[in-house]
Amino acid sequence: MEKENLLTGDRPTGKLHIGHYMGSLKKRVELQDQYNNFIMIADQQALTDNARDPKKIQNSLIEVMLDYLSVGIDPMKSNIFVQSQIPELNELTMHYLNLVSIARLKRNPTVKNEMKEKNFGDSVPTGFFIYPVSQAADITAFKASVVPVGEDQIPMIEQTNEIVKTFNYVYNQNVLNRAQALLPKKGLGRLPGIDGKSKMSKSLDNAIYLSDSSDIIQKKIMSMYTDPNHIRVEDPGQIEDNTVFTYLDAFCSDKHTLSKMKEHYKTGGLGDVKVKKYLNEIIQSELEPIRNRREYYQNNLDYVYKILKDGSNKARSTASQTLFDVRKAIGINYF
Ligand code: TRP
Repeated sequence: MEKENLLTGDRPTGKLHIGHYMGSLKKRVELQDQYNNFIMIADQQALTDNARDPKKIQNSLIEVMLDYLSVGIDPMKSNIFVQSQIPELNELTMHYLNLVSIARLKRNPTVKNEMKEKNFGDSVPTGFFIYPVSQAADITAFKASVVPVGEDQIPMIEQTNEIVKTFNYVYNQNVLNRAQALLPKKGLGRLPGIDGKSKMSKSLDNAIYLSDSSDIIQKKIMSMYTDPNHIRVEDPGQIEDNTVFTYLDAFCSDKHTLSKMKEHYKTGGLGDVKVKKYLNEIIQSELEPIRNRREYYQNNLDYVYKILKDGSNKARSTASQTLFDVRKAIGINYF
């Protein structure tokens, strides 16, 4: 049976952290054999709100690529490519824009949120405002039927499917395919920052990066937010909203030991330092091989760029086939 196409993408705006790893990268590595995989580094989408700082995107592009390779994304199994190298996506975006109203774009809750966070108001860059349409171009260009994303990206998939439906209806052809979001398992969607804040992010300086050295990782783990009322070892402690235990839930595969530790912590007598040391061991052993692979690729950057170039060329030929069909459906293939 023909494998279905799967597309994932990340905006390169910084290095990837263990939240990305648990929430999506690990799953992506697992899915490599099941699907025909496209992995897009969405540098053009990243530029929509970083147009005046292209260096940041250039630098992040290679960091993200190194992160991909180091977690085990295999270029023999997954086609990794760079969004800006596929001009066909831009033409698709233009055709789709004609089918989407400003009112509809204004309703996209994720964009609405981001606009509020960034205080854009009416001075929002147009490219940013319409990025859901360009994302619809990404998804449809590669005929992706499965798109693994986080909760916040569901509105993008919905908007993509609306465009698919409208396009096929208006031009009376079945050129574009519907896509389905594949969501992370409950609890793995979002790892909090080491300060216990809801989100791991660069600006909050609360993330553990895949590229962090083992010393830095240890320091970060030892400084983690726990139960502020768990002052003496013998005090009973709280597991809920205790970041160390949230991380253990995500990383520790020995559920038996973990549940015994939780009981011990709740009744009192188990100190934070012990729990943190246990977490540190687990995270270090998960990240060490990743860091080693990263070093290998870091020393072979020509090879890494070559993978991206070949991947982009391949992706381009798929996208140009879709664009050909789209132009034909609209009827602008005059000669
Ligand atoms: N919007 C995604 C993000 O914020 C990145 C992205 C761009 C994407 N195009 C995509 C994700 C297509 C999945 C499919 O990171």
